[in-house]
Amino acid sequence: MNPEDNGKLNELLERARKKCQEKGTEGTPSEQTTPITTSTMLKTISADELNHAGIKSRYKDVTFSAIEKRGLPDDSCIRSNYRQVKAYAERLDDYTKNGVGLVLVGGYGTMKTTMVVAVLRKWLDEGHHGLIVPMCSLVDNLFTLMHLNREEMAKYEHRIRTTKLLILDDLGGENTDQKWVLAKIDSIITERYNDKLATIITTNLSAKELAGTYSGRMLDRLKNTAMLLVFDTDSQRRHMWEA
Ligand SMILES: Nc1ncnc2c1ncn2[C@@H]1O[C@H](COP(=O)(O)OP(=O)(O)OP(=O)(O)O)[C@@H](O)[C@H]1O
Ligand SMILES: [Mg+2]
Repeated sequence: MNPEDNGKLNELLERARKKCQEKGTEGTPSEQTTPITTSTMLKTISADELNHAGIKSRYKDVTFSAIEKRGLPDDSCIRSNYRQVKAYAERLDDYTKNGVGLVLVGGYGTMKTTMVVAVLRKWLDEGHHGLIVPMCSLVDNLFTLMHLNREEMAKYEHRIRTTKLLILDDLGGENTDQKWVLAKIDSIITERYNDKLATIITTNLSAKELAGTYSGRMLDRLKNTAMLLVFDTDSQRRHMWEA
């Protein structure tokens, strides 16, 4: 974008922002006062880039503003956690420098993935790299590559271990029957902890179930570097049939 277009865009954004403030917007007070930053607006992310960052079709339009435009569910737990996730995203620069992450624990359908995708999307929009990976896919991919292409496996693993912002979606959703799986997850978390890299985790497992599955050392590291948000509420997914 040339400087003239950039200037016009900023002018338009400023006008839109003023209009919103005059009209008042929906959402929580902190949502209303969040400034629109120019850096968020400068990068247009292509579908390929989203895919490369692991953001699949269902979540491709998820941003904080899209969530607010659609309207948060009228649920105090979700609203309070949303505010905290958004506050985390507003300090991403700091948090990624210091390896501070998030752990979102709770029932299915409570918007955990949606919220962490919005965090990643903000990070990508600002021109950084990051990755979200469902735990079951991570284990499947490693297993397949281990047998088919060791070089590709090393590259994939390197990316998981070193990307600035990693989201492990649905920890506990992977099959942990084989010993190497837990050892691998442990070593990824440990290495990222040692390198002060931010890791965000979502999980349906309770604290007790996490403790029964993963090593105490691994959880100890997570507790030291990640803020915990508990989603103790009902699924927000619309159901097309009842059991
Ligand atoms: N404002 C909103 N923006 C985005 N999604 C919303 C909004 N309000 C409700 N939802 C709904 O929230 C539902 C759950 O989202 P999501 O997939 O993020 O849940 P989850 O906590 O990750 O679930 P699971 O633990 O099963 O993976 C979606 O079906 C979506 O339609
Ligand atoms: Mg999810």
